[in-house]
Amino acid sequence: MRSETDSRPLFRTRTQVGIVGAGPAGLMLGHLLHLRGIQSFIIEDRSEEHVIERVRAGVLEQSTVDLMHEVGLGDRLSRLGLRHEGIHVAFDGRRHRIPLAELTGGRAITIYGQNEVVKDLIGARVASGEPLLFEVEDVGVAELDSHLPKIRFRLKGGLHEVTCDFIAGCDGSHGICQPSIPASHVKIYEHVYPFAWLGILADAPPSSEELVYSLHERGFALFSMRSPRVTRLYLQCAPDENIEDWPDEAIWAELMTRLRTRDGWAPNEGPVTQKSITRMRSVVVEPMNYGRLFLAGDAAHIVPPTGAKGLNLAMADVWRMAQGLDAFYRSGSDQVLRDYSARGLRRTWRAQRFAGWMTSALHRGGNDDAFEHPRQLAELEYLVSSRAAMTSLAESYVGGPLD
Ligand code: FAD
Ligand code: PHB
Repeated sequence: MRSETDSRPLFRTRTQVGIVGAGPAGLMLGHLLHLRGIQSFIIEDRSEEHVIERVRAGVLEQSTVDLMHEVGLGDRLSRLGLRHEGIHVAFDGRRHRIPLAELTGGRAITIYGQNEVVKDLIGARVASGEPLLFEVEDVGVAELDSHLPKIRFRLKGGLHEVTCDFIAGCDGSHGICQPSIPASHVKIYEHVYPFAWLGILADAPPSSEELVYSLHERGFALFSMRSPRVTRLYLQCAPDENIEDWPDEAIWAELMTRLRTRDGWAPNEGPVTQKSITRMRSVVVEPMNYGRLFLAGDAAHIVPPTGAKGLNLAMADVWRMAQGLDAFYRSGSDQVLRDYSARGLRRTWRAQRFAGWMTSALHRGGNDDAFEHPRQLAELEYLVSSRAAMTSLAESYVGGPLD
């Protein structure tokens, strides 16, 4: 008989790549590996419903859209995704359009909720018949610097051990993979911003066909959408505020004040179906790997949402990781895997630069705000009156090819 304290695993499994986390990064990695004939085992500590319902990103870069098509998951995206060839920047009561596609040789963004991406990826995983376990508990990783690292967890009371060639840490910003790297082998860069975003979903038809990023003297606001019937809105607030202190009427009043422009444009109101507050920070983990553990997505970096880069960076990471694993299994060469971190960090810092710039241009309340606000207005005036400045924003916003 086994006692309560017996820690020997009951169930042992062998796989090529163990994946911790079934967010966009882990699920896309599993799919890319499946298409290359590489086995993987995905575990997730939340329920399937929670993972699908979680409301987060909405903006897909061109390269993410192209990747979804390349891997055979473009059908729903083509039907439901909203291609946007421009965005608006609003300040001083006026909206100014930045024609993204015209400035970037036809590249654009597509509005398609992260939960739709996750739904598509879970569908593909289930169809592949490969393992995807939800609601696992007490997850740990071990022997990371050996050739056979392990993932251990409990499921319905039973202990499991998965022996892997590699482990992919795709477990987001509160996961266990990154903290399992010995502190002496990793450097963590962090910047905490002095504000947060209050986000809502509303059953209201979007009143603009394109996104509106607004700087108002009361703070930042963003108009976005999820479908022809659902509007997504954000509002800068203080990092220590509670969502319970924001009744719907107060949220609408603040959104209207910050978003309404002099030409009479304003968002449509409708019943609020979801609301939450997210603090804003930047994190970069360097390097993105340790031994046979490779980090991807929010487990390796967090960018402020103003640049809409987080999900897209996660996709770029796993595309690169799949290339490295493919090369390893085909030829035995680990050269691509050895470059994984350096290439990922280059893309990550580019995204931090852009998201940091968008954030500082559009939010109020940093140091020396009395000086900052007129400087921000000058920055935005320059942006919308210079084709060179708009092109610079457009290039970063639509994102470069996967690299
Ligand atoms: P996650 O989506 O966090 O997935 C990690 C998974 O691992 C989760 O399912 C988690 O439950 C699981 N997990 C955690 N710990 C464990 C464990 N111990 N064992 C097993 N599983 C575990 N990005 C954009 O590109 N565009 C946008 O427009 C955008 N807007 C955003 C708006 C908001 C309000 C927020 C909060 C984020 C936004 N982002 C945006 C960022 C984007 O949502 C994230 O970058 C993205 O979710 C990262 O995907 P991931 O798979 O790396 O991590
Ligand atoms: C969203 O629609 O959720 C969204 C859009 C743009 C951002 C961030 C989030 O910069």
